[in-house]
Amino acid sequence: MNTVVLVTGASKGIGAANVDRWIRKGALVIASSRTKKNLEASVRKYAKGRVFPVVCDVTSPSSVKALFRTIKTKFKRLDVLVNNAGIGYFEPIEKITLDHWQTTINTILTGTFLMTKAMLPLLKKSERAHIFNICSTASKKGFMNCGSYSAAKFGQLGFTEVLREEVRPMRIKVTAIIPGAVDTPFWEKQTSGFDRSIMLHAADVAEAIIYAYEQTKNNLVEEIVLKPACGDL
Ligand SMILES: NC(=O)c1ccc[n+]([C@@H]2O[C@H](COP(=O)([O-])OP(=O)(O)OC[C@H]3O[C@@H](n4cnc5c(N)ncnc54)[C@H](OP(=O)(O)O)[C@@H]3O)[C@@H](O)[C@H]2O)c1
Repeated sequence: MNTVVLVTGASKGIGAANVDRWIRKGALVIASSRTKKNLEASVRKYAKGRVFPVVCDVTSPSSVKALFRTIKTKFKRLDVLVNNAGIGYFEPIEKITLDHWQTTINTILTGTFLMTKAMLPLLKKSERAHIFNICSTASKKGFMNCGSYSAAKFGQLGFTEVLREEVRPMRIKVTAIIPGAVDTPFWEKQTSGFDRSIMLHAADVAEAIIYAYEQTKNNLVEEIVLKPACGDL
């Protein structure tokens, strides 16, 4: 039977690369993000019946519940959850607005929590359940101008480590994916001036996820750190 995979933040960047890689692996993919237009444009190239776009805002409990009901009704199962949706504002702490702070925490940290909690009843029934949380090198180290982003990402990694212990007895695997800078639309709105040509590719991150998923039943890859060959930007 086909693996059923849910990818959040699937319309662009790392999420879109994951959709592509899982489809090439033969999975059925539920691709979700907030914006219907972006989502539909990103999945148009795939054959019907391989990918199912579903609009969902990970910060909204009712939107997440509706996504759960759709998956339960249509697929009756879920094997893999990729918590990828994210957002970031890069500014000094003195300049962070409460709105930017809350949007970042709500999307990355609360979004990962809401989605994970909602999907656990289906994942518990899978023979090969795996949750991947897309964290960041900003989950482990403070970088200039990353106050809200790092607060959310450190929290997301802490949540991931607790989740791993709590669902181990249910035979659900949990892997933290920890990339450095990845060349995605994420950087289009940033003023960092970083050279995007030396960043990781979104496909590198998707490949790392497939690597962890394909390990034997007894082998759990708990964490994968990927960095640009030149190091941190
Ligand atoms: N790019 C990097 O250098 C880098 C490095 C390490 C970790 N990461 C992490 O990797 C993840 C993906 O980043 P990316 O670089 O691919 O970013 P991106 O290109 O900006 O894409 C972000 C995705 O998240 C979706 N999204 C944003 N807010 C959402 C919400 N509230 N609910 C549902 N979907 C939402 C966006 O779609 P809609 O606008 O349609 O909702 C989009 O599909 C993030 O968690 C990011 O922190 C990125």
